[in-house]
Amino acid sequence: MKIAITGANGFVGSTLLTHLHHKGFEPLAFVRKPFRLNSIPVRIVDYSNPNTLSRALSDVDVLIHNAGMTKSVSRGEMLAANVGITRNVVQAVNQAKHPIRLIYISSQAASGPSSAQTPRRESDALAPISIYGKSKAIAERVVQTQCSQAWNIVRPCSVYGPGDRDFLSLFRLCNSGFSLQIGKKERPLNMIHVSQLADFLLHLIMNQQVMGEIFFATDNQVYTQALIVDAICAAIGKKSRRLIVPEALAHLAFGALDGWGRLRSLPSAMNLEKYHELSAEGWVADPQKAQGLLGWNPPAMLPELICETYRWYRENSWL
Ligand SMILES: NC(=O)c1ccc[n+]([C@@H]2O[C@H](COP(=O)([O-])OP(=O)(O)OC[C@H]3O[C@@H](n4cnc5c(N)ncnc54)[C@H](OP(=O)(O)O)[C@@H]3O)[C@@H](O)[C@H]2O)c1
Repeated sequence: MKIAITGANGFVGSTLLTHLHHKGFEPLAFVRKPFRLNSIPVRIVDYSNPNTLSRALSDVDVLIHNAGMTKSVSRGEMLAANVGITRNVVQAVNQAKHPIRLIYISSQAASGPSSAQTPRRESDALAPISIYGKSKAIAERVVQTQCSQAWNIVRPCSVYGPGDRDFLSLFRLCNSGFSLQIGKKERPLNMIHVSQLADFLLHLIMNQQVMGEIFFATDNQVYTQALIVDAICAAIGKKSRRLIVPEALAHLAFGALDGWGRLRSLPSAMNLEKYHELSAEGWVADPQKAQGLLGWNPPAMLPELICETYRWYRENSWL
């Protein structure tokens, strides 16, 4: 089975390729510019041109459309990247003369936050609170309404693991002996390790009975930020001092960093949208649909996988 992955140079895409390669599949990397994994065949694609995309798809059975922009200072740029490209990918898949299964990598952000008590279900109305989440929600709609081939949508929660830059800042903070929490409330949230996400996608690809279904992808556990910080500190072998930042102060700080990022046209990881996401009541998805339809029941391994991530950061001099 030939499985192509867009955005293959990135954190999730490159891990997915290696994982599929090790499991005996024939992965193909779709990238915009030359690729860093030289053991895997590469096709350079131009997302602005559905015809070239459709030629690249000539022998592909499954296309995982993973390319996407996760931060930007420009709403237009975010929409062009996440919605515009998805529209062209769907058009290319529709033009193919053979069956292709399209799997769109959306995000938990498309669905929006949960309350502290009730997890969100796939069938809940979408209520994104960031431009990123809105762009993913619109792209989901494009897949649902315009794709004439078989499709699925996967909404991963926060993904961590070797090669991830987003959680790196939390590891760095813990390494310096501190951790920050916005407000006193403990907020429940989901996590998934990148290799678990790759396994999740394999469960989906091997299942032919779930076409047209949307799934949250989590490791089925519920954490809090304090639990994650404790796991990171245990991996590092250090204690960290938790500083509780009042919400109003955090709002100001994230606003200032957002403004600074906009002045330099460089998106900051700490921006106002991130503040709203971090201060939401919870980010918990109901795992029942993936458990029931895909048999998705990964072992609970967060402490071990955080340790492995820490070792990777150290070995690669990121920490
Ligand atoms: N990391 C998470 O926590 C998380 C959580 C939920 C969902 N997701 C989704 O998972 C996917 C992969 O995320 P990631 O964390 O691996 O991000 P990443 O490391 O930034 O990789 C994203 C890839 O998307 C492509 N890309 C980015 N901007 C693009 C643009 N304007 N036009 C065309 N291609 C563009 C690039 O592909 P090239 O290889 O061509 O350069 C890049 O390698 C994204 O769709 C993201 O929304 C991620």
